Amino acid sequence: MDDQANKNYPPALHAIIEGTQPLGFDMASEPKTGALLRVLAASKPNGTFLEIGTGTGLSAAWILQGMDDNSILTSIDNDEDAQRVALEHLGDDTRFNLIFADGAEWLQQNQNLRFDFIFADAWPGKFSHLELALMLLKKGGMYIIDDLLPQANWPEGHAPKVPTLMGQIESLPGFTTVRMAWASGLMLVVRH
Ligand SMILES: C[S@@+](CC[C@H](N)C(=O)[O-])C[C@H]1O[C@@H](n2cnc3c(N)ncnc32)[C@H](O)[C@@H]1O
Repeated sequence: MDDQANKNYPPALHAIIEGTQPLGFDMASEPKTGALLRVLAASKPNGTFLEIGTGTGLSAAWILQGMDDNSILTSIDNDEDAQRVALEHLGDDTRFNLIFADGAEWLQQNQNLRFDFIFADAWPGKFSHLELALMLLKKGGMYIIDDLLPQANWPEGHAPKVPTLMGQIESLPGFTTVRMAWASGLMLVVRH
């Protein structure tokens, strides 16, 4: 099986990649992760979706493609230049709610909200403020993280933090988890 064979890319993907290159932004999700996010998104009709770490909108393009018309994706980042690319190419989609904010502050201020799906792709909500992010999951809701296998852009000292994070998540009561040594390395967490 060729698990790279996924020709049905989101329509905006190519333009987003082109818009990303001049920024030198090297943290974008890979297509296999995007394809997984898309299929998981399709399992949550009328869903409320949260992404922490919009970047330039690559993963958002995949998530939006999987979502139905009644779903909403809220996506947060504190990098205006990166988010501008997402706004340019996905901003016409009324299901896309782009928020410029610090992820940690946003999580602290929005503990009243609940989501069916959280893609935690920034430091806050993953390596910090983890429990605040997991608190926002509805019962049956999914929390997804990637970049758990060694990545070229990891700063020095980052590698040991990854198994610690996975162990921390697995020790929390009330969640079912699976590790996936596939694509950049993923973990899928469901609240029960
Ligand atoms: C891995 S990248 C996101 C990539 C994007 N999800 C994609 O797949 O293309 C991480 C993003 O988190 C953002 N970020 C880092 N610290 C943040 C913070 N404290 N609050 C909000 N966003 C933050 C960065 O600006 C960056 O765009």
